Amino acid sequence: MPEVRVLPCTLALFGALGDLALRKLLPALYQLDREDLLHRDTRILALARDDGASEEPLATIERRLRQAVPAKEWDEAVWARFQSRLYHLSMDFLDAGSYQALAELVGEEKTLVAYFATAASVFGGICENLAAAGLAERTRVVLEKPIGHDLESSRAVNDAVARFFPENRIYRIDHYLGKETVQNLIALRFANSLFETQWNQNHISHVEITVAEKVGIEGRWGYFDKAGQLRDMVQNHLLQLLCLIAMDPPADLTADSIRDEKVKVLRALEPIAPEQLATRVVRGQYTAGYIDGKAVPGYLSEENANPNSDAETFVALRVDIRNWRWSGVPFYLRTGKRMPQKHSQIVIHFKEPPHYIFAPEQRSLISNRLIIRLQPDEGIALQVMTKDQGLGKGMQLRTGPLQLNFSETFQTARTPDAYERLLLEVTQGNQNLFVRKDEIEAAWKWCDGLIDGWGRLGEEPKPYPAGSWGPQASVALIARDGRDWYGDL
Ligand code: BG6
Repeated sequence: MPEVRVLPCTLALFGALGDLALRKLLPALYQLDREDLLHRDTRILALARDDGASEEPLATIERRLRQAVPAKEWDEAVWARFQSRLYHLSMDFLDAGSYQALAELVGEEKTLVAYFATAASVFGGICENLAAAGLAERTRVVLEKPIGHDLESSRAVNDAVARFFPENRIYRIDHYLGKETVQNLIALRFANSLFETQWNQNHISHVEITVAEKVGIEGRWGYFDKAGQLRDMVQNHLLQLLCLIAMDPPADLTADSIRDEKVKVLRALEPIAPEQLATRVVRGQYTAGYIDGKAVPGYLSEENANPNSDAETFVALRVDIRNWRWSGVPFYLRTGKRMPQKHSQIVIHFKEPPHYIFAPEQRSLISNRLIIRLQPDEGIALQVMTKDQGLGKGMQLRTGPLQLNFSETFQTARTPDAYERLLLEVTQGNQNLFVRKDEIEAAWKWCDGLIDGWGRLGEEPKPYPAGSWGPQASVALIARDGRDWYGDL
């Protein structure tokens, strides 16, 4: 990678005492500081409404940081430096009067990175106040998800921000794009001519994308129940992964070249009509079960649950892409909470050789697969066919992997968290890993069609026990095409 040029800026975290900031953003900034990737003049402004808590905000930040950063990565000297960059300002984000104090803290000369770790309903108001305080010209705004809950509401949020900021200063987060292994998809596909020549409907039979989570709702019922797994995970993370697998090679690595190609994929997604829902999509909701041998409650018995909720915590779907490259190649997507393992992987299944010459009973073995493990145990395995060793074996075939395990191969001490990468990119002014307005809107448009269909048919989620791979219907969904989910235990 080209050298990173560390540039000075002021980072203003709106919602600095919220869960995301305390759990992810501030630890990520600490790690950047530890890696010498924050300029010595960079300041961090923790902006939060005064919530009357007895603990001082900076004391809360220190306490939570010490919990979040692994002990072996905690360094008192780094903390002293980090602390000296950190200022707290109590403000009401919708009160224009509070922005004068912010403007004074920012000073004249530096770029301001304004990270909105708040509800999207206040994004427009914050932008208006930043502009009124004369800060808009040198500000990059970072928008956390969810940006709306459908096409219309996401347009409203985007439009409210666009009144004050041009697209090239808006950074929409999809934290999956900040994961090292997800970025690696670009290198894997476009730095290896080996794969690109095979990457189409002539050679690939189907693709699987699984993002399985072990966690349940983790006290986020209020948000999650209005969203459900389709809006929470598919609309953003899974469709972004699909884009990176399915897009055409960009002309270069600039943000717009990459995003132009991704948006073409999103626009080519075949809508799923209501009459196709029964065979193409499965919604599930977890019931009580066991995770790692420990009993866990069902979704409807979680803290603050509405026992009649019909939100889905699992979705499996068959997606088709209407273009030359992918015509006739189904993409099977699946994601759920309370599954047996935290495990995200993409499996590219290649077609059988055109002419088969081995023993008929070995035919089912024949298929090359490229397995891209995103988390945990990040790496790539290419399954190839070989002959079994030994004089007595004849032409006995076996399938074996060519393995690349990233942490072993690159001897990396730790894999940086996605937010470290994303925050670093914003300070550099690189938009490659952020989602453009037309991408978000194309993704919503496609998902809205599905959600509409569910509404019209009154489609209820199917139960699945916590600790399983989802409802049986998700096995049937892929089995209908004569296939199965790769690697399910
Ligand atoms: C978030 C979702 O965007 O991604 C959560 O809102 C989900 O519901 C999380 O748990 C998963 O992220 P990761 O990085 O743990 O796979």
